[in-house]
Amino acid sequence: MKKTSDTFADILASRTSRRKVLAGAGSLAVTFAAGCGSGGSRSEDRSSLGFVAISHGLDDTHHVADGYAADILVSWGEPIFPSGSLFDPYAQNGRAQQQQFGANNDYIAYFPLGSDTVSADVSNPSDHGLLCVNHEHININMMFPSESRESASRGSSKAEVEAAMAAVGHSIIEVRRVNGRWRVEKGSAYTRRITATTPMVLTGPAAGDVRLKTPADPTGARVLGTFANCSGGVTPWGTILIAEENFREIFAGNPDALSGSAAGEAENHRRFEIGSSLEQYWHLFDDRFNIEVSPTEPNRFGWIVEIDPYDPRSTPRKRTALGRCQHENAAVAAEHDKFVVVYSGDDKKHECVYKFVSESRYDASNIEKNQNILDAGTLYVARFNDDGTGTWLPLVYGEEPLVPENGFRSQADVLIDLRLAARLLGATRMDRPEDIEISPVTCRTYIALTKNDDREATDAANPRIGNLWGHILELIPPGSDGDRDHAARDFEWQVFALAGDPTSDPEVRGVYHEHISDSGWLCNPDNLAFDPQGRLWVATDGFNDFGVHDGLWATETVGPDRARFRHFFGCPNGGELCGPAFTPDGRTLFVAVQHPGRSDGSTFEHPATRWPDFDPRIPPRSSVVAITKNDDGEIGS
Ligand code: FEO
Ligand code: CA
Ligand code: CA
Repeated sequence: MKKTSDTFADILASRTSRRKVLAGAGSLAVTFAAGCGSGGSRSEDRSSLGFVAISHGLDDTHHVADGYAADILVSWGEPIFPSGSLFDPYAQNGRAQQQQFGANNDYIAYFPLGSDTVSADVSNPSDHGLLCVNHEHININMMFPSESRESASRGSSKAEVEAAMAAVGHSIIEVRRVNGRWRVEKGSAYTRRITATTPMVLTGPAAGDVRLKTPADPTGARVLGTFANCSGGVTPWGTILIAEENFREIFAGNPDALSGSAAGEAENHRRFEIGSSLEQYWHLFDDRFNIEVSPTEPNRFGWIVEIDPYDPRSTPRKRTALGRCQHENAAVAAEHDKFVVVYSGDDKKHECVYKFVSESRYDASNIEKNQNILDAGTLYVARFNDDGTGTWLPLVYGEEPLVPENGFRSQADVLIDLRLAARLLGATRMDRPEDIEISPVTCRTYIALTKNDDREATDAANPRIGNLWGHILELIPPGSDGDRDHAARDFEWQVFALAGDPTSDPEVRGVYHEHISDSGWLCNPDNLAFDPQGRLWVATDGFNDFGVHDGLWATETVGPDRARFRHFFGCPNGGELCGPAFTPDGRTLFVAVQHPGRSDGSTFEHPATRWPDFDPRIPPRSSVVAITKNDDGEIGS
């Protein structure tokens, strides 16, 4: 008899076999690990996209192409443990939120469990799995009633702050497709909430450094929590990587007020604009979020965090070898006997694109051996030359200019002050690097640059002054399509698409396939995903500002329909689209609608939409949507 959910003992018993399945089942490993070269076979004669595009629009609900169902799977506040209390927007607190799905869902990863959860039988891995979901932040004025906020002293009550700290981070839930529809298994032993107070460790070259020590943690290696978790990536050894992005919004205090030994952190904090745009009030109830009390606490955020979703008791690890910045994502290239490569963008205007290359080679035959492979290696930052070539510049302490004369006394300094190091090396300053993905078919790498209205001087990789629209670059490592060397020091690159209206003035217009349709053009590319066939899906964040809903577009990257985007999904007003994630068979697409109803003047009482409940008592709720095709075919085909 099939069991509905695993017990914890079952999980431990089957964990290793799941790992073997992940590593060994060729196409699965490709799907989940951005391995490349063995994705679906592609016809290059014509587009394989078969859906009829939806229109640009903007209203209070979501839209998907005809022939598809887009069902709400789980929303902020929904209890995900059997003991969880029902969502009450007027009585939120940390204890309840700990048992509920978090706020502002962002990155999504799907990990298969198989139809029989105990034997790790993966005959049906696309109908039963774990959904790992980031919760990026909270929108304080839409999350809590104004009345309770106004009555609370100095901006937020303790209950609100505790609710907020429990609403961020990450959720792991077990999901199953039954009779065509997805549901959450609330009794699952895998279910987990990771929040701003979950114990985790710092590992790698910076762990234990004096600049990571705090009054509460003299080891410099133990930290409470993760937040600002934006996009991420998965590894072929069965873990998820989540990126800590806008951590600066949590920290209060004035860098100029730091004195004595703490004064050395002032410039570091200024580089992150800490204290300049406070959006939360956590420091009122926990001193570690006040840099004037705990000046090194921000150094413990801005990392890539690795989590084992198959082991609900595992300790998340902040991998310092991958550097500290406003990490947007982590795109992994890993093939047997090759070095592991992780691409990540630093999402801020004029910041850079990074790549980590492991010291050890990935061993697909014994994946437990790779568990700490991200702790040793070389971090690089990209320089895009105007002639279409590029170079990865190593961020290595002791190599000019990363030497004591420039303020670096160890590799820990290079990693903590990554932006400073990148600047000294002459890395290219980009138009806000957002998501990065690797094609499973060609092995080329795609980088979404979302926008940069402050750009005054252009270069070939950031070619428009005052870039309001964003663009997508295609990075081409040495080799041939299907077999490219992501660890190499050199690369070639080209513009894949310039976003924006293709009918605008020549100097600002969007540039795509010459026959782009009326709804095929887009603005502000953010999250990227490849489907199993190697088609690129682009989600947007900011098209709302142009009077068009944010949403999802799909395109071929090869063949005659390259960069001919087709509009598939539209968000409710105020929402951006995050986390596109396909099941291995490509028949389900999970997307995360983030902050629906957020627009100028929106509040808890008066949001721009009440999606998805449309209940006057319920504020709009970020939700994961499961998209399937009515004929159960592959999404997009
Ligand atoms: Fe959280 Fe850069 O998007
Ligand atoms: Ca993003
Ligand atoms: Ca992505």
